Amino acid sequence: QLADSLYIVNGFAQQYFSKVLLEEEEGQDIGLSYLKERGFTDTVIRKFQLGFCKEARNAFVTEAIAKQYNSELLVKSGLAAMRNDELVDNYRGRIIFPVHNTTGKVIGFGARIIKKNDRAPKYINTPENEIYIKSRILYGMYFARQVIDKFDECLLVEGYTDVISLHQAGIENVVASGGTSLTTEQIRLVRKYTQNLTIVYDGDAAGVKAALRGLDMALEEGLNVKLVLIPDKEDPDSYVNKVGPDAFREFVASNKKDFIIFQVEVALKDAGNDSQKKAAVVNQIAETLSRINKAEDFTKQQDYIRQCAQLLKIEESGFNNLVNKFI
Ligand code: UTP
Ligand code: MN
Ligand code: MN
Ligand code: MN
Ligand code: MN
Repeated sequence: QLADSLYIVNGFAQQYFSKVLLEEEEGQDIGLSYLKERGFTDTVIRKFQLGFCKEARNAFVTEAIAKQYNSELLVKSGLAAMRNDELVDNYRGRIIFPVHNTTGKVIGFGARIIKKNDRAPKYINTPENEIYIKSRILYGMYFARQVIDKFDECLLVEGYTDVISLHQAGIENVVASGGTSLTTEQIRLVRKYTQNLTIVYDGDAAGVKAALRGLDMALEEGLNVKLVLIPDKEDPDSYVNKVGPDAFREFVASNKKDFIIFQVEVALKDAGNDSQKKAAVVNQIAETLSRINKAEDFTKQQDYIRQCAQLLKIEESGFNNLVNKFI
């Protein structure tokens, strides 16, 4: 009942915000021109149903109340907030990114500020409610799932704009985690469509650490995980805009690295010549490899044991025993 009302108010809000962006002067002047400046085409703006929330205190709230949506629902949906006994728009002056579930219904929104500043967060997201359950959401899955199935691969990026820019570049098997580490539920959602997950993150330490945290879980769920690190200060959105679609594809294709091997290399580099640290690395990698489901992927596990033993410069049979200790 409440869930149904949330779907309905979100659908109403999505249409309202899109109309403001595309048809009203304020939306065009501030929102649309911002999106155009960033290089987004009409096609993806419409496909992803982007919108704009006016700067006035309660432009959306006024429309919603006129349509009989009650204030409790508006607060629950995150579209409005109570400020000093007054119901005000929560996404004032922001670009609206609707978030869809896998059947295409709008379950929530990401709202991006136009000009970054230190006082306000860059994105405001829908709070957890009956239909917006963050741990289960992968942004873009509705638009990506058939293509993921077709190419038997899912690309994972950090943000809304990464997903949209890659679609624009013709890469449509892509979803976003929202920058946090993957949950089991998100991994299972990917697993419904493919076993092959390619993480395409910016190379900064935070991004990679977040990605690494999901690795053991991904392995337990039987995923093959690869990693592509986007260079310098770029992210997939800025990088594809910089080099163009063809060069971007080429970059992804030739820089795909097996995630387990990547983890070994990073850990070994961290350990340096410290033998105690190196022993810890050996243990940690053994535990990671133990997560690979032996019954289903015995050959895969054996391949990794061989490769990792080589990289770690240790004897394979001893390492094999260690892996088996964790099972
Ligand atoms: P980024 O800071 O990399 O933003 O955060 P972005 O996606 O590149 O956005 P643009 O290109 O500057 O517009 C990655 C993702 O983390 C979440 C969002 O999902 C964002 O897309 N995030 C980031 C938030 O939820 N809140 C924030 O304040 C910042
Ligand atoms: Mn498939
Ligand atoms: Mn980052
Ligand atoms: Mn980014
Ligand atoms: Mn970005």
